[in-house]
Order: sequence, then structure tokens, then C-alpha cells
Amino acid sequence: MAAPADPLAHIPHPPQTPLIGNTLDVVRDFYGFSSRNKAAFGEVYRIRMMGRWRVAFTSADAAEYIMMDPDKLFSSKGGWADSLAKLFPGGLLMHDGEEHRVNRRIMQAAFRKPALDSYLTLMAPEIERLLQDWPTGKTFAFYPAIKALTLRLGAHVFMGLPADTPEADRLNQAFIDELAAAVTVVRKPLPFTLFRRGMKARETLIARFHDLVEERRHSDGADFLSQMCRATDEDGRHWTDSEIAEHFNFLVLAAHDTTASALTTMTWALSEYPDWQDRLRDEVDALGPGPFTPDMPDRMPLTDMMFREALRFMPPVPLVPRVALRDFEWKGMRIPAGTPVSANITMVMRSADYFTDPDRFDPERFSDNRAEDRSHRFAWAPFGGGAHKCIGLHFATLQVKAFTRSLLSRHSIARGGTDAPEWQRVPTARPKNGLPVRLDPRA
Ligand code: HEM
Repeated sequence: MAAPADPLAHIPHPPQTPLIGNTLDVVRDFYGFSSRNKAAFGEVYRIRMMGRWRVAFTSADAAEYIMMDPDKLFSSKGGWADSLAKLFPGGLLMHDGEEHRVNRRIMQAAFRKPALDSYLTLMAPEIERLLQDWPTGKTFAFYPAIKALTLRLGAHVFMGLPADTPEADRLNQAFIDELAAAVTVVRKPLPFTLFRRGMKARETLIARFHDLVEERRHSDGADFLSQMCRATDEDGRHWTDSEIAEHFNFLVLAAHDTTASALTTMTWALSEYPDWQDRLRDEVDALGPGPFTPDMPDRMPLTDMMFREALRFMPPVPLVPRVALRDFEWKGMRIPAGTPVSANITMVMRSADYFTDPDRFDPERFSDNRAEDRSHRFAWAPFGGGAHKCIGLHFATLQVKAFTRSLLSRHSIARGGTDAPEWQRVPTARPKNGLPVRLDPRA
């Protein structure tokens, strides 16, 4: 019997390695591989990973079409299923359509301005305190240090637990195991695998969240979990205990690696561009002494530009995956229902179509007079867009600003070695060498 015709035969693709397709190309050098594909094939091409063809789109027009989804064609649940379905089945990205809308409206309550202000009051002093444990006068690896700091901070801000208790340590270790399982290649709970350990960690966490939800339903805590227990939409709809536990479990995943990645790129840039470090330090000094107050983030426009450029340069989430629910056509190319597609925002944000000299780190491109991010609605999209646009973007921005103020008001930062870091872009951007840096107390 003849093999069925390939419905994607008209879409070009790079050479394949038997069995594994392009998996290693992506894991080893996602940016180089994507750049070569874009140069060879243009805006649309396909790659093969985990035994399936996936169609990649590299333009801002396509990113807009996929994320705004005017024809209700794309499933986020399908797109993220490989990484999230077993460990985070109740997370927001695992919901589509009306079901997603209802859940997102409830979650929105935990992200309104008064809630954000209360997170800030928990977060800023804790960052200040945790930073005091960091070494000065010697080189250390920034990336593992910021991962540990954001997790300890998370116990406090997300769960309302003191950061340094055995309970917080135990939960944080469970998060680490769960996160490791989300990005491992073997996704079956076979004995001795990271995945099995992650599934066990999930059980521990969900059980503990259930207990905490019981307590928090009747408290007026300022932490995320308490806010989520109280969250209702405009019609008074709220979540069951299980729904809260599932949403919360995903929220910690969505917040943790991404923010740690962005802070790592920012810190690399501060050490790499001392003139920007000086400018940000002046901005931080101009805020004056005392606690970090809710009016301060708006008085940090240069930090904002630096953060935006860090996200453009090294997006923590390198692409936005979806699955086509129905057949569709893009510029005359037919793509059948069931095809995994992705908006490659890494390539969009490094495109000379929207940004001048796109491979140069240049925060000035976000200044009012250049505003290159406005060259296209989706030219700058590190937080995605449309119905699933990152709900935590203002929270992440607050955290980055609170951290930057604490760091720069006390320290100067320098490279800890001579080598420029090599970046691992997937699944979340990070420096392969951990980013050696050196902090020195300010004179
Ligand atoms: C620099 C930090 C961050 C980056 C770059 C980032 C990026 C993203 C992106 C690209 C998406 C959209 C994914 C898609 O459409 O498939 C997303 C969604 C999401 N993010 Fe973030 N994120 C960050 C921080 C956070 C934080 C701090 C939180 C929570 C406190 C958070 C919670 C979420 C949630 C819940 C979603 C799903 C929204 C939905 O499905 O409606 N993120 N994020």
C-alpha cells in the first residue's frame, strides 16, 4: 500500500537526523538553527521534534494571527500539552476558549493594582534581606543564586510562608523536582526518572496546597495564595479548592524560571555595559532612601528600558506553541487541522524588519523618540499577546525593579570572568556557565 501523501509537503524543512529529526538542533542552538532556517526558507518552515512535524512562523504578522486568533483556530492546550498536561493539567495555558475566559477572569482579581501593591510590600523587604546573604568581593555564579533567591522569595510572596523554614525548603525542593520534570525528554513515570520524581513532587505540592487553601480561605493574607482563595470575577464566580491548588501550582512554574531568566540577562547586561549600570544606579539613587513604595516603579524608566531590551534580546519564553484546531491557510499555504504550530517570538524580536541593528544590545531603542517596539503590534512580544498574554507581566516588572534597586543601591557589578556567556535558549533562556559575576560594596 502506498504511504499517505504528506499534507505538509509544500512547506520546506531543514535536513533531518534519523529518528530524532531536529530535536538536537533545537536543544543545542535554537537561535542559530532558527536563523539558518529563516535565511534558507523565509517566514514559514517546518521542523520535526518528538516524532511530529511542527510549523514555525517567524514574522510579527504571523505571531499576531496566531496569538490574537481572530478565527478561533488555535489551541493553547494542544500546543503546551507535551510539557504541561501531566504535571500542570489545571494551569491557565491548559484551558481554551470560554473555559479559559472564565478562569482568567477569576485569576485577574489576584493581579489588580491593590493586590500588586500588597505583593510589593511583602517582596521588596524580603529581596533586601535575601540579598544580604550573597557573597561580595569574590566571583560567584549568578544564575543558580537568583534561582534560589526567587524560590525563597516565592515561599513568602506566593504562599505567605517564612522563607527560611524547613517547610519552605521542602516545598521549594518539590518545585525544583516538578520543574525539572516539565523539561525532561522522558515523559513517562518510569522508575528512577526525573519525570517520576516530578510527579511525586506534584502529589506532595497539591496535597499541601489543599491544606493551605483551607487555612487561607478564612484569612486576609497579602500573599498570592490568599488572594487566589478570595478571587471572584464580576459575577461572583470563584474556584473550588482543587481548582485553586491546580492554578496555583502552575502559577509558580510560570513565574519562577521566567523571572529568574530575565533577571539573569539584565545582570549580564549591567556587568557588560558599565555606562548603563551607572545610569541605572543614578536612577535608583534618585528614588531616595527608605522602603520601596508603590510609586517608585513608575520613576524607573531607564530600568524599564533595560528590562524590555533584556526580554527582547534573550526572551525567557522563546516561542509560543499552539495546535491548529481546523485546516487553515497562511499566505496561500494550507496547514491541516491537528498540526502543531509556533510563533517564533525569538526570531521576530531579532528581526531587522522591526528593530535597527537587532543583534546589538541597545535599551535606547525603547526610548520615546525611537520606540522601535511600536514598529508592529507584535514586534516586541516576550509576554505573548491575545487571550493568553502573560497575566504576571506587571508582577514580573515589579520584582525586577525591586531587585534592581536593592542590588544597585548597595553594590557594583562586574563580570566574573573573561568569557562571554553562551546561552541555552530552550526551554527557558539561561547562561550555560551560570554567569560568573562579582559584587563589590559601593564606596
Ligand atoms: C519575565 C517574566 C515572564 C515572562 C517573559 C513571561 C512570559 C509569558 C508568555 C510568553 C506567556 C504566554 C504563553 C502563551 O501564550 O502560550 C505567559 C503566560 C502566562 N504567564 Fe507569564 N511570563 C513571565 C512572568 C510571569 C509571572 C511572574 C507570572 C505570575 C505571577 C506569570 C504567569 C503567567 C500565566 C498564569 C500565564 C498564562 C496566561 C493565560 O493562559 O491566560 N508569568 N507568560
